[in-house]
Amino acid sequence: MTPTTDNTLPVAATPLLKVEDLEMKFPLHSALLRRTIGWIQAVRGVSFSISPGESLGIVGESGCGKSTLAETVVRLTTPTGGSIVFNGRDVTAAAGGDLRRLRRDVQMVFQDPFQSLNPRMTVRQLIREPMQVHRIGTVEEQQSRVAELCDAVGIDRRLIDRRPTTFSGGQRQRIAIARALAPKPKLLVLDEPVSALDTSVQAQILNLLNELRARMGISYIFIGHDLAVVRQVCDRIGVMYLGKLVELGESETLLEAPRHPYTQTLLSAVKALEADGSIDLTENLPSSGEVPSPKNPPSGCGFRTRCAYATDECASDSPELLDIGSLQEVACHFPLKLTDGSSRK
Ligand SMILES: Nc1ncnc2c1ncn2[C@@H]1O[C@H](COP(=O)(O)OP(=O)(O)OP(=O)(O)O)[C@@H](O)[C@H]1O
Ligand SMILES: [Mg+2]
Repeated sequence: MTPTTDNTLPVAATPLLKVEDLEMKFPLHSALLRRTIGWIQAVRGVSFSISPGESLGIVGESGCGKSTLAETVVRLTTPTGGSIVFNGRDVTAAAGGDLRRLRRDVQMVFQDPFQSLNPRMTVRQLIREPMQVHRIGTVEEQQSRVAELCDAVGIDRRLIDRRPTTFSGGQRQRIAIARALAPKPKLLVLDEPVSALDTSVQAQILNLLNELRARMGISYIFIGHDLAVVRQVCDRIGVMYLGKLVELGESETLLEAPRHPYTQTLLSAVKALEADGSIDLTENLPSSGEVPSPKNPPSGCGFRTRCAYATDECASDSPELLDIGSLQEVACHFPLKLTDGSSRK
């Protein structure tokens, strides 16, 4: 993406993915009363877009809605509100052929390669299966693509008839990535793809992901809880809090000059502790109180109950994610004032 001259967010001619006001809530059932007694508001009005070839990171504490957002975007579930436009087509409620096309063009890689790969299938079968499902190529073409993909992700072709159980965690994740790439998707959604791996193996997989994106021009949504990991793979990062995106900006700008009080708190808390270079949101949570429950989010701004700057306005009005220049968008009533701390109570 190239910045525009007036320093506003660049708008690609046709975004690959445009998500608007996305909402996903789950009913809370009472077995006793046999009815819905409330809602878990996992995703509460999220908007963003991704350009072809771009990599967007999503970070946030456990339970903030990252996986729900990912699963909704790839249409493993149908959103309860908002819209998803992929490659110019509205896929919010897609079914039949439209949904099948989306299932081919958008692939997902999960955190745990020990669970996500069927242990009864060989590497060859695992990588070939998506091409069979989507009827891509002849048998010979599928076989040669399996071999090419093994080369691309660094799996020895001679091991192609082994089962995933004989591979290490890092190698299994390479197989999962090859399988995801098999139908030539335009977007890969990676939900904590390296969180279950050792640090040295993590680095190899991150390098692989960067190489593959450069070579194939594919887009990523990369979900993670370690900002140091996410920044290595992502052009932009979105910070989620209680089902909402509170800040979205170019990775380096967001990490060097965070504008939302939540991002600021997170980074100041974690930076003080990052002796090993990781910026880990699961281990180093900010100390300013409990995260409210998505069953009962606060009125107005979701972060106000933990925010040192909150005013009455924050309780009555929910701030929208707005462009504040410098390629950053922030959902806060006071993002500019906060830079010099002038509105602190
Ligand atoms: N199928 C479901 N039914 C009911 N509640 C759900 C469902 N899936 C997720 N939730 C709830 O939605 C909220 C967001 O969960 P989600 O898994 O998306 O968070 P996350 O950010 O991915 O967390 P983590 O970092 O731990 O993976 C949580 O309160 C979770 O309990
Ligand atoms: Mg998750």
